[in-house]
Amino acid sequence: MTKRTYKFSNTSTDFYLANGISHLKKITDIKATVLITDEHVYNAHTKRFKGWDTIVLKPGEEFKIQETVDAVVEQLIAMEADRKTTLVGVGGGVITDITGYVASVYMRGLRFGFIPTSVLALVDASIGGKNGIDVGVYKNMVGVIRQPAFILHDMVFLNSLPQVEWENGFAEIIKHACIKDAKMFAELEKNSLKTYRGKQKLICDLVQKNALLKTKVVQKDEFEKGERRLLNFGHTLGHALENQYELSHGQAIAIGMTYACHISEQLCGFKQTDKVISVLEKYNLPTYAAFDKQKVFDVLKMDKKREKKEMNYVLLEKIGKGVVKSISLKQLEKIIQGL
Ligand code: GLY
Repeated sequence: MTKRTYKFSNTSTDFYLANGISHLKKITDIKATVLITDEHVYNAHTKRFKGWDTIVLKPGEEFKIQETVDAVVEQLIAMEADRKTTLVGVGGGVITDITGYVASVYMRGLRFGFIPTSVLALVDASIGGKNGIDVGVYKNMVGVIRQPAFILHDMVFLNSLPQVEWENGFAEIIKHACIKDAKMFAELEKNSLKTYRGKQKLICDLVQKNALLKTKVVQKDEFEKGERRLLNFGHTLGHALENQYELSHGQAIAIGMTYACHISEQLCGFKQTDKVISVLEKYNLPTYAAFDKQKVFDVLKMDKKREKKEMNYVLLEKIGKGVVKSISLKQLEKIIQGL
């Protein structure tokens, strides 16, 4: 079993890439571990959970809320979980968020790890330590930054992943390419979702490349004072749209990236919007949307990237080179109204 360890400011995460859930018992004591998953993953892979204490949650972003956290805490108390218990989130982004958050607050903190089962969780949600919940329309309004002890990849879970979830994950992959990796952008232009779904090695390589890209960014700036902000490309407008318009995360940030490209044209002389739009369309993601500009701006201005009257907005100078620009809320409101 190959292990790679990545260090963060005061902790480290062990990555077990291209392994299998059967290896989990070598990483954590089966008698002192609780798995947290959702009904979709559990029903499609029941036998993989055999022998493990498991909490099964209802699937969906609408359950990434405090009530779910309370319910998990009550179940952990009923199971007599203590400070020696390890929690393992087996699922997509909602499960990794809830698991990491509960593990950070239950008894003031338990060891936790992830087995990400969606493309989005493999390349993004499982990495970086931000674990939180939504409050009303405000995404990830409450949470912590705490790194998982381990992340184990079992690509078999992708076999049951619906098409729409593949698209969701590719939105984050396209984002990584836009901000940091022009070569990967060219690879995405050349290939398609069908190619990646059909070729195990191709998707494994792409997932690992993206997991590493994000890990390196987080290692440099765990608490988001600089470089890490780039990962928010498409997310400022995206998050404001996501819960108001019942879009998936991938769809919302794809729209966010499209408009961020147009803002980049205005503020950074960016000239490759058409290329970004073509790739988003190729991976079946939406680009333009009709939305209530005022309503969206009112949510957007509460974004965590706001600092007093300025918003740190991620823009592109060129494909592969993201930059963070501080835009006054007044100017941003004008730009959004003009989109
Ligand atoms: N858990 C996702 C992140 O830290 O960005």
